[in-house]
Amino acid sequence: MGIADDSAVSLNQNRPQHIAVVMDGNGRWAQERGLSRGEGHQQGAVAAKRIVELSLRAGIPHLTLFAFSSENWQRPEAEVELLMALFVQRLEAELPSLIEQQIRLRVVGNRANFSNELIAIINRVETETAHGDALSLQIAADYGGRWDITQAARLMARQVAAGELQPEQIDEAVFQSALALSPVPDPDLLIRTGGECRISNFLLWQCAYSELYFTDICWPDFDEQAFNESIGWYAQRSRRFGRTQEQITPRQAG
Ligand code: IPE
Ligand code: IPE
Ligand code: MG
Repeated sequence: MGIADDSAVSLNQNRPQHIAVVMDGNGRWAQERGLSRGEGHQQGAVAAKRIVELSLRAGIPHLTLFAFSSENWQRPEAEVELLMALFVQRLEAELPSLIEQQIRLRVVGNRANFSNELIAIINRVETETAHGDALSLQIAADYGGRWDITQAARLMARQVAAGELQPEQIDEAVFQSALALSPVPDPDLLIRTGGECRISNFLLWQCAYSELYFTDICWPDFDEQAFNESIGWYAQRSRRFGRTQEQITPRQAG
C-alpha cells in the first residue's frame, strides 16, 4: 500500500477523536472576582458539564477531563475536602443525564485514598453508564502520568511472575493496554486552560503525539466559542508523526 493510501498516515481527519483537558484556572478565576476558590471549583464543574455537551454535539467520541492530580492532595485540607465533596455531589446529580445521553463515564486514577462514599458513587456511575455509546468520558482523578506508567509496569510484572506473560511479549501495544485509559485511543488534542504551558503529570505516555493547545482563558470561562476555537486550531495542524510533509500531502502527478 502506498503511503498516500495509508489511512494511519493521511490524518488529519480535522476533527479530534479524543480531546483531553487540563481544566486549570478555577482558583484564579474566583480570585479575580473576589470569590472563594471553592466557588471557582463549582463554576469549573459547570464548565465541565458544558464541554461534555459540546463534545457530544460535535460528535467527538472520547473526552478525558483532568479533575484532580496525584499532587493535588498537597493542597490545604479544606480545599481537598471541598473538591471531594463536589465530586460526589456532581456524580450523583449527573447520573440520570449521563444515562439519558448515552455517555459512558469512567474514573481513571488511583482510588486508594478516596472515601468509601466516593468509591461507591463512582462504582455506581460506572456500572449504570457502562453501555453508553455516544461518548466515552474519562474523569482523571487522583491521576498522575507517572502513577499510570508505574501501575502498568506493576500489573505486567505480576503477569510475568504468574507465568501469564513473557518479558519478550512486552511491546508498546501490550504496555498501552495496561494503562488506565485503555482501550481509549491516545488524545489527538490536549487543551490546557489557565495560561500555564505544562503537562503537570497528566497523560505522559498517551500525549506522545497529541497536539498541545494552551489558552489563557480560565477554565470556568471556557465556553462554546473557546471550544470552537480550539477545534478550529486543531483542524489547521499538520500531523506528520515523524514523516515529511510531502509524505502526508504528496504533490499531484502531472
Ligand atoms: C484547577 O484549577 C482545578 C484543580 C486543580 C482541582 P486550580 O484550582 O488549579 O486553579 P488555579 O490554577 O489555582 O487558578
Ligand atoms: C493540574 O492543575 C491538575 C488539574 C487541572 C486537575 P494544577 O493547578 O494542579 O497544576 P500546577 O500545580 O499549576 O502545575
Ligand atoms: Mg492550577
